[in-house]
Amino acid sequence: MTVEGKADNLMDKLVALCKRRGFIFQNSEIYGGINGFWDYGPLGVELKRNIKDAWWHSVVRLRDDIVGLDAAIIMNPRVWEASGHVAGFNDPMVDCRGCKARFRADKIFTVRFFSEAGQALHAEGVEAGDAEQAVQAAQAKAPSKARRKLQAGYATRVYAPGNEPDPEDKSICPACGALDQMTVGRKFNLMFRTFVGAVEDSSSMAYLRPETAQGIFCNYKNVLDTSRVKLPFGIAQIGKAFRNEINPRNFTFRSREFEQMEVEYFCRPDTADQWYRYWRDERFKWYVDLGLTSSRLRLRDHEPDELAHYAASCADIEYEFPFGIAELEGIANRTDYDLSLHQKFSGRDMTYFDDETRERFIPYVIEPSGGVDRTVLAFLCEAYTEDTAPDEKGRPQPRTLMRLDARLAPIKLAVFPLVNRDAMPEIALKIYHEAKAHFAAFHDDKGAIGRRYRRQDEAGTPFCVTVDRQTLEDQTVTIRDRDTLAQERINASAVVAYVRDKLKL
Ligand code: GAP
Repeated sequence: MTVEGKADNLMDKLVALCKRRGFIFQNSEIYGGINGFWDYGPLGVELKRNIKDAWWHSVVRLRDDIVGLDAAIIMNPRVWEASGHVAGFNDPMVDCRGCKARFRADKIFTVRFFSEAGQALHAEGVEAGDAEQAVQAAQAKAPSKARRKLQAGYATRVYAPGNEPDPEDKSICPACGALDQMTVGRKFNLMFRTFVGAVEDSSSMAYLRPETAQGIFCNYKNVLDTSRVKLPFGIAQIGKAFRNEINPRNFTFRSREFEQMEVEYFCRPDTADQWYRYWRDERFKWYVDLGLTSSRLRLRDHEPDELAHYAASCADIEYEFPFGIAELEGIANRTDYDLSLHQKFSGRDMTYFDDETRERFIPYVIEPSGGVDRTVLAFLCEAYTEDTAPDEKGRPQPRTLMRLDARLAPIKLAVFPLVNRDAMPEIALKIYHEAKAHFAAFHDDKGAIGRRYRRQDEAGTPFCVTVDRQTLEDQTVTIRDRDTLAQERINASAVVAYVRDKLKL
């Protein structure tokens, strides 16, 4: 897929850069990896931390109405009965009788031989790219007569419970291409299970949380009773969540272990709509402010038939990734759904008493719920740039750079001695040590200076300082801007203040 103004196979290049520079590695790679799990390397962990810090700063530190929380990943399993996850957190799933592979039912295509309806669906653009791949896979396996028919026309249809395929349709296995070998869709709970304590039976079974939100709902009364909060107020949390996704894919986009940043914002029912609209706009602005300024970011209101059963309204903040437009964050009006259910299941009072109006009620909840890993991925995609830059002899050379906002960049400043002699190393080390006390800095004295710049461009480092011969004469250094390549001479003693100013520290 092509991303405007960027390389065609951007995703492949980005994945390669992430590995080469230490942003993201495949988990347990030395054992062949494990599908749906990823590790953040030295640069990735800094980027991710900067994103989480920026979020925490904006939703907790800068506000008076939101407090933080860090709840445990494993909770009493009754929580997930109350929340509806035990009964309802399912994806319909089908198995191929041929190769035994398992898929989400809505990802299975059917072929309808010579079908006009199929052509019409295709014309509407129904997953046409995927359907073509599925047909190609089927063609590779199908007997030659069927192959000719397959070439004549095809349809994509959802092969899911309640939407059984027409008898004329035949499913195709995307993995082995087998025709008509799919089982009918059945439900598959996405929660990971584990056992607490020494005995492994149903009484000790617990779940890894599939969302951080329930830790907030369960602590709503504790926070209310222990902090001086009054409606409207919010509780914010960043933490791991786990979902046994049937089909993890698109690098870190759909993982089985990921992090969420969620706010549950409690308010009076009659103000819920106003707060919903407030959070929808506020969260959108946050992404724009940190650099997702392009036309690739959008805010989409859910259609009524798309709404989750608990939501009165919902909007998604979406980003146009190289693999398609997909959700970064959802903002939902969850009404009093969760607190009412926890009140019912736990027997604890979840009502709020309003001193002013003398009313008692269960608050409504507005929930901005974002994914840390998806946000990291969106910023990486947005930052990836290829251009040309002159080498030491002034010849233009292709370069790759990560145009990350300076506040998000893993390293803010790299310091190089031009050569390792004549007091240059000592001056460079002095600047580096001074800078480290203020922000993430890096010192590099290995290899040609041009190569050192290229490494930092790929790491997304916004500023590089070089100590050269002139430094020995007048104590000035060059400071180079990653994006414009402009080089300024500034006093060595002014480097830290210069970078702090750019970082708005
Ligand atoms: N508490 C509401 C909730 O969990 P969700 O839409 O299921 O809502 C919220 O998840 C966010 O979590 C998503 O917008 C996405 O950014 C992130 N997320 C969900 N599933 C994910 C997965 N499998 N991999 C990575 N991120 C995921």
